Amino acid sequence: MARPGLVSPRIVPRRDEDWPSLLELWVASWRATYPDIDFDARRDWLRQQVLRLERSGSRTLLLREGAPPATIGFVVIDPATHWLDQLCVHPTRFGSGAAEALIEAARSISPARLRLDVNADNRRAVSFYEREGFVSRGEGAPSLSGRRTLIMEWTSALLPQS
Ligand SMILES: CC(C)(COP(=O)(O)OP(=O)(O)OC[C@H]1O[C@@H](n2cnc3c(N)ncnc32)[C@H](O)[C@@H]1OP(=O)(O)O)[C@@H](O)C(=O)NCCC(=O)NCCS
Repeated sequence: MARPGLVSPRIVPRRDEDWPSLLELWVASWRATYPDIDFDARRDWLRQQVLRLERSGSRTLLLREGAPPATIGFVVIDPATHWLDQLCVHPTRFGSGAAEALIEAARSISPARLRLDVNADNRRAVSFYEREGFVSRGEGAPSLSGRRTLIMEWTSALLPQS
């Protein structure tokens, strides 16, 4: 069933004080997707991963909504390589349009293309990306949990297709 739509959504860059809400949201989102994996134990991994990506040029954008504003999702995107490393939405806001708003924000800073890898068994994410116009470009490296991954890519319709 569709969730209520977004209330006064805003995309903002990550600030240092956002770490607690960003990590809570990441754990909740992935726990809803793979309940058997201990994502709490990976908080430090995520933080180091995002910092490493930001040092090499990626941008972390948060989606906030409501008053007072609550962070309900985030995306990490590298405008130079077009690599989208992280996308997640709080599970209470799955189906709300939050993921579309974050992909739209990623497209605004990487308008030609977006590339990512996704666990092949993460059917919700794969369906979402297909709905957003991504296509599969073959197999990626195994995930942290050893799962099969797919490389998916979205290319602007304005570019010549290869
Ligand atoms: C992936 C994610 C960002 C998508 O956001 P979302 O709000 O859940 O996405 P939506 O609800 O808009 O779209 C999901 C689609 O998958 C469908 N879906 C849900 N469960 C499904 C399943 N088991 N199999 C196939 N499709 C499924 C939904 O019906 C919906 O399609 P529809 O709108 O055409 O009906 C979000 O689910 C999330 O944060 N997941 C955890 C982290 C994650 O997987 N990130 C992506 C890593 S690459």
